[in-house]
Amino acid sequence: MRVLVTGGAGYVGSVSVERLVQAGHHVVVLDSLVTGHAAAVADGARLVRGSLRDRPLVEGLLRDERIDAVLHCAARSLVGQSVADPALYYAENVVGGTGLLDAMLAAGVRRLVFSSTAAVYGAPDRVPIPEDAPLDPINPYGETKRAFEGALRWYGAAYGLRSVALRYFNVAGASVRNGEQHEPETHLIPNVLAAALGRRGLTVFGTDYPTPDGTCIRDYIHVEDLADGHLAALELTGRAEPATADEAAVPARSTGPNDLPGAEGGFTACNLGSGSGFSVLEVIRAAEAVVGRAIPHDVGPRRPGDPPVLVASNERARELLGWTPRRGTLGEMIGSAWRWLQAHPGGYAGETRGG
Ligand code: UFG
Repeated sequence: MRVLVTGGAGYVGSVSVERLVQAGHHVVVLDSLVTGHAAAVADGARLVRGSLRDRPLVEGLLRDERIDAVLHCAARSLVGQSVADPALYYAENVVGGTGLLDAMLAAGVRRLVFSSTAAVYGAPDRVPIPEDAPLDPINPYGETKRAFEGALRWYGAAYGLRSVALRYFNVAGASVRNGEQHEPETHLIPNVLAAALGRRGLTVFGTDYPTPDGTCIRDYIHVEDLADGHLAALELTGRAEPATADEAAVPARSTGPNDLPGAEGGFTACNLGSGSGFSVLEVIRAAEAVVGRAIPHDVGPRRPGDPPVLVASNERARELLGWTPRRGTLGEMIGSAWRWLQAHPGGYAGETRGG
């Protein structure tokens, strides 16, 4: 396959690029490098710096590189920032996204996999969360992801786009080459490891949730498992019929020429999560086991907008994509993140491609 990866210099995108290159695909990365890192792009991939909203650039790349399918990871993804500056999120996640779709249609590219998020569910009543749970985001970040999923569905019906939205739960861990470096960093595991290194203090946001230890429960998924899910979803967008006996067991609901196997229409959404949840305190204890010492932390008030429990049902990903998480323990996820930090004490700072 010839694949354009938008946001391929970011955390999730860069690990997916590695996976695609390793599987022998031709990969072109389009990234503005505003939040991404050039050094994160695997050597086998071509890196083009630019904006999704540069229509001539995007359409030219799709045509010149004879792209078969797009993996769309480029987005703004900080919940707090989205509340403070929703205009940025609508411009980049929605307007940027539909600009990409329009360029794809003009260039005759009709396959796309989209980085979506559990944030589309908001604070669900029931866990594990199935894909047909109500979509009720509680912040502009989740809302813009939901809006783009809607565009995918309607573009599928009207223009024959075949697409899969992958709703990520809490992505964690690192490959040997690439890890998580956000600025500012708000995620739990990088913050816990930074505290283990004495680089910052760690606060547990709330111990009065209705959970066994009072702290929030999340479904953590290894970034390399996520990359496997991306590859499987890209393959699904190119398949007309179920390819294996197992998939044949999926109820045959496809009717149109453009429908995805096992889906109604050209669009489907799949959760990517492990299906099990861990509390904040369990994460801290697992990290202490990895680093071999106690990690100092204090307790603060709840962080606004945090649902108590988010755990995925991953049955659909198993059935449709033949996907299963293979690196599901906290020890594997936190251990890989810790090894990456040890190998890159300054993160990507000062690193160049090939370095
Ligand atoms: N937490 C702390 N201390 C910290 C950081 C986080 O206690 O320093 C807690 C949070 O309050 C939360 C849990 O750790 O209970 C996980 O927080 P993260 O920020 O790591 O992840 P979230 O569950 O908030 O966010 C994830 C994705 C978002 C997505 C959201 C959907 O990273 O992109 O799920 O709710 F929007």
